[in-house]
Amino acid sequence: MEARLEKVPGRQEEFIIKDSTGITVGRIFSVEINIENHFYILRIKLYKENDYEILRSVLYRLMKGIFAAGGIYKVNIFVDQTIDTRSFIDLGFELEGVIEDTIWNNGHCRFELLFGITANRFNSNQIKNRVVLKGKNINLKLLLPSDADKTLDYYTRNKEHLRPYEPERDDSFYTMDVQKKILIESYKQYLNGSSINYGIFNVKDELIGKIQLSNIVTGIFKNAFVGYSMDIRYEGRGYMKETLKLVVNYAFENMKLHRIEASTLVDNNRSQNVLMSCGFKEIGISKKYLFIDGMWRDHKIFYCTKEFYKNL
Ligand SMILES: CC(C)(COP(=O)(O)OP(=O)(O)OC[C@H]1O[C@@H](n2cnc3c(N)ncnc32)[C@H](O)[C@@H]1OP(=O)(O)O)[C@@H](O)C(=O)NCCC(=O)NCCS
Repeated sequence: MEARLEKVPGRQEEFIIKDSTGITVGRIFSVEINIENHFYILRIKLYKENDYEILRSVLYRLMKGIFAAGGIYKVNIFVDQTIDTRSFIDLGFELEGVIEDTIWNNGHCRFELLFGITANRFNSNQIKNRVVLKGKNINLKLLLPSDADKTLDYYTRNKEHLRPYEPERDDSFYTMDVQKKILIESYKQYLNGSSINYGIFNVKDELIGKIQLSNIVTGIFKNAFVGYSMDIRYEGRGYMKETLKLVVNYAFENMKLHRIEASTLVDNNRSQNVLMSCGFKEIGISKKYLFIDGMWRDHKIFYCTKEFYKNL
């Protein structure tokens, strides 16, 4: 949906956002224009939450206008945590910060997100698209803060299924706020190259599992850790084996890693089968390795190198 921007009469620092029917759907406030340092800081408030099309259209027109006028190289925008972050990501913005507890709403404190973009990035249209790895039965997509509803649903319906395998979680974990915070953190880690948090989506585009490459180290180590889980309704169909093969292939061929490590509970034969089918070999037992389901538990450690994978 196209959006229109109108100046508020007599107020240089404020614009009204209207939708195509003329209804006011939000406001833009100018926070600081620093001509000497070529930056411009804005705050956007939308009355209608999660309207991807409107926000994307507003952002596109705003950035086009600001950068075309010259004089400004960098734009930062504050937005409420509830907005659909895809509108920013699709246009090439990067998440630069999370400002805790800045908005009071019905007695609850919410946070604001700070997005940033440079003129070069906008004009050269080097959009950092969602990383998608395509398989035969599943696709892997980078999880973004706007996927919080999907991860909340995934963890809620698999609470009992995952309890024996994953760290202890209190009730707050099963809320939109915490899921969004987790995804913001993992998106920041993706941007600084230390982790990739993929959602596993089936042909109907439902989130049916998760896989994460974490502690990614380059240089002479070229190593990462992998962890994963599958929705109870979709286990045993070969989806995790397909997923892990895609991720391992991407890690070795595109990210140029040399080694990937994984750990499973000693009696998690299912997960061990997945690893071994994808070229992983057992190293041994690491004692009292992770705090799972109320105890420090021994884990079997596996590793896969580029050479093992090539010889599969
Ligand atoms: C482990 C897990 C990710 C596997 O996902 P999945 O999609 O069911 O895995 P796949 O169907 O691709 O493969 C499962 C493999 O285990 C085998 N398997 C199935 N049930 C098994 C069992 N009870 N014991 C041993 N192997 C079993 C399957 O036969 C298959 O191997 P194969 O094709 O060589 O025969 C999933 O069961 C899960 O999420 N479990 C709970 C969380 C978890 O364990 N996470 C991993 C922590 S290390």
